[in-house]
Amino acid sequence: METSKLLYLICSLFVVVFLRTSRISVEAQQTYLDNKQLDCYNDVNYTDGYSCNGVQSSCQGYLTFRSNPPYNSPADIGLLLGSEPSLIAEANNISNFDTISTDTQILIPVNCSCSGPYYQYNTSYKLSRRDETYFTVANNTYQGLTTCQAMMAQNSYDSRNLTVGLTLEVPLRCACPTSNQTVAGIEYLLTYMIAEGDSVSAIAELFGVDLQSVLHANDLSEESIIFYFTPLLIPLKSKPSRIQRTAPPPPSPPPPSPTPAAPGSGKSNKRWVFVGVGIGAAALLVLSAFLLWFFCGGQSHKKAPQPLPTLAPPIKKPPQSSYENSWFISTEGVRYAIESLTVYKFDELEKATGFFGEANRIKGSVYRGSFKGDDAAVKVMNGDVSSEINLLTGINHSNIIRLSGFCVHGGNTYLVYEHAENGSLSDWLQSNKLQNHSPLTWKQRVQVAYDVADALNYLHNYANPPYIHKNLKTSNILLVSNFRAKVSNFGLARTMENQDDGGLQLTRHVVGTQGYMAPEYIENGVITPKLDVFAFGVVVLELLSGREATAADKDGGDREELLFASIRLVLEGDNVRDKLREFVDPSLGHEYPLDLAFSIAQLAKNCVAHDLNSRPAMSEVYTTLSKILSSSLDWDPSDELERSTSIGQIHVR
Ligand SMILES: *[C@@H]1O[C@H](CO)[C@@H](O)[C@H](O)[C@H]1NC(C)=O
Ligand SMILES: *[C@@H]1O[C@H](CO)[C@@H](O)[C@H](O)[C@H]1NC(C)=O
Ligand SMILES: *[C@@H]1O[C@H](CO)[C@@H](O)[C@H](O)[C@H]1NC(C)=O
Ligand SMILES: *[C@@H]1O[C@H](CO)[C@@H](O)[C@H](O)[C@H]1NC(C)=O
Ligand SMILES: *[C@@H]1O[C@H](CO)[C@@H](O)[C@H](O)[C@H]1NC(C)=O
Ligand SMILES: *[C@@H]1O[C@H](CO)[C@@H](O)[C@H](O)[C@H]1NC(C)=O
Ligand SMILES: *[C@@H]1O[C@H](CO)[C@@H](O)[C@H](O)[C@H]1NC(C)=O
Repeated sequence: METSKLLYLICSLFVVVFLRTSRISVEAQQTYLDNKQLDCYNDVNYTDGYSCNGVQSSCQGYLTFRSNPPYNSPADIGLLLGSEPSLIAEANNISNFDTISTDTQILIPVNCSCSGPYYQYNTSYKLSRRDETYFTVANNTYQGLTTCQAMMAQNSYDSRNLTVGLTLEVPLRCACPTSNQTVAGIEYLLTYMIAEGDSVSAIAELFGVDLQSVLHANDLSEESIIFYFTPLLIPLKSKPSRIQRTAPPPPSPPPPSPTPAAPGSGKSNKRWVFVGVGIGAAALLVLSAFLLWFFCGGQSHKKAPQPLPTLAPPIKKPPQSSYENSWFISTEGVRYAIESLTVYKFDELEKATGFFGEANRIKGSVYRGSFKGDDAAVKVMNGDVSSEINLLTGINHSNIIRLSGFCVHGGNTYLVYEHAENGSLSDWLQSNKLQNHSPLTWKQRVQVAYDVADALNYLHNYANPPYIHKNLKTSNILLVSNFRAKVSNFGLARTMENQDDGGLQLTRHVVGTQGYMAPEYIENGVITPKLDVFAFGVVVLELLSGREATAADKDGGDREELLFASIRLVLEGDNVRDKLREFVDPSLGHEYPLDLAFSIAQLAKNCVAHDLNSRPAMSEVYTTLSKILSSSLDWDPSDELERSTSIGQIHVR
């Protein structure tokens, strides 16, 4: 590189730094994030939230969210953002279960309030994949509506200690109008996430507001640069109406390139949007390099070159502690390595299981083993079990049984799983087999249904690649000591290939358990995720009724009575209330809320619909169950007792 260019480069760096630091005229409304959210370990106060500087300490605010499966209906988005689906639906003039086409921006009304020095809207998120970090949750899942800094400030978990199943607080950025804005007639502030192709003027136009008011609200000037995946506050004088773009936004952003996404109208007011690159400090480094490159070389080259690594040295490296380094490593490889499988020697297994003695047999070919005091289950299998091993090593979900190791010996494979102290769900439901156990309570049953829905939703929508379990039944659902459920037995699981053509697969080799298999599978060998939805419906009916999926015909014939067929009779016609009471497991007595039992029965009925297209997706089932679960946990058995006795008295009179 010529010296003149290098000089230009260094001087540009100073200009950039000067512009950034000189812009701290903080008396203004709110400070723009300016891509500071990329550097998780450097906390400036405005990365933690918008300052609580408004007239009111709480107000109605709005966020924007981009529809993105599985978050593509008001119900699913409401669950993610902790907002009421019907309010989202109303704000966007759609209905709760409408599927919103991908990348459509929708409005989310939220109750924004001061929490310490910042305005925020609280929601929470349960980690479901082991590659998730504070940054990916903030940027990718919540689309930049929060920052890793704000999340780290409000969660006690160390960034290296995140594990699947942890629930994180998620403070979403929102704000209330300042006195200056109130005087100007501003009623609401909307947190708009900048997308590719946006410029401040285009965004102002989209909402029909004055450009200056937007610049002022974010303490920006006409020359300021704005970045993708950062929020911009839009001051509104009235409630926003559904966002409608005349031209659809361009497809998903290309790999980071220094090409400005949306040049402004004139030379003097360039307001460009850049694609954020990289994560954390390293990202900032690359970003600075690339900014510099743009400032120095971008003007003369129409086609922008990739940021050159050789540009890095002249830039001041952000202080990098070992802490930061380990954060990078832990998200990449180390966690996988720690959790990878143990390869056991056969004599270790023999010792652990008492030479596969009868006393240690749990059921069939599954034995209890004790490895250095830790219990585990050892399953003896023959044939090719590599697909089950591959599946289970790639998955880490608290409701899916964990495989800890294996051993290959004498033509058999021995799989070592975590031990489920309470055995299988089928043992508990057929309580006549276990006289010495008290029956599962209502709350335990709903929790089990929720856990299984969580596991299946994960398999269908979040596992990579996604899977269909194909063999869900109560004997494959295991209960650990606190009665939380774990799905097991992935011997028949299938990856969802050909997702492009709707994930449809066909087989001639129909295997499964009578009573759980969906009609389209039995008849035509059609394999879709709706197979699991059907089987899940049957499991829920078993939980509800305590009956088995198939039972001998009452009249003593050899035809079997199918549980899934019976629910329609219960929920249709007259006397639904009485028929439902009769259907529910008598061992529950009156210790269950009839309203919720009805909701669950309704859900199960939809799951076992004959037409697979009428069955809900697992994500919908999961959303519904999470509501039923939270209502069940709030429910107090004594209420129902009172209610049912009073109903009884009315009947008597
Ligand atoms: C309030 O608005 C006036 C006029 O728009 C402006 O001059 C002043 O700087 C603003 N004050 C603050 C604190 O933003
Ligand atoms: C950040 O700190 C500055 C100066 O201490 C203050 O004026 C500003 O309001 C703070 N911003 C937030 C978001 O708290
Ligand atoms: C809502 O959508 C319906 C049609 O889907 C339309 O008739 C109605 O005018 C819309 N309402 C508003 C307020 O946009
Ligand atoms: C805001 O709070 C009110 C009253 O608590 C509640 O009725 C409303 O549903 C809330 N709105 C949102 C978007 O959560
Ligand atoms: C939001 O969460 C913070 C702690 O994370 C808490 O201090 C605050 O009260 C919460 N706000 C609301 C409205 O619940
Ligand atoms: C932030 O998330 C978006 C998708 O929502 C992704 O395209 C982008 O690469 C992410 N940014 C970083 C720096 O990872
Ligand atoms: C990580 O979690 C473990 C167990 O919960 C705890 O003992 C340890 O101190 C944590 N590490 C950090 C750095 O917080």
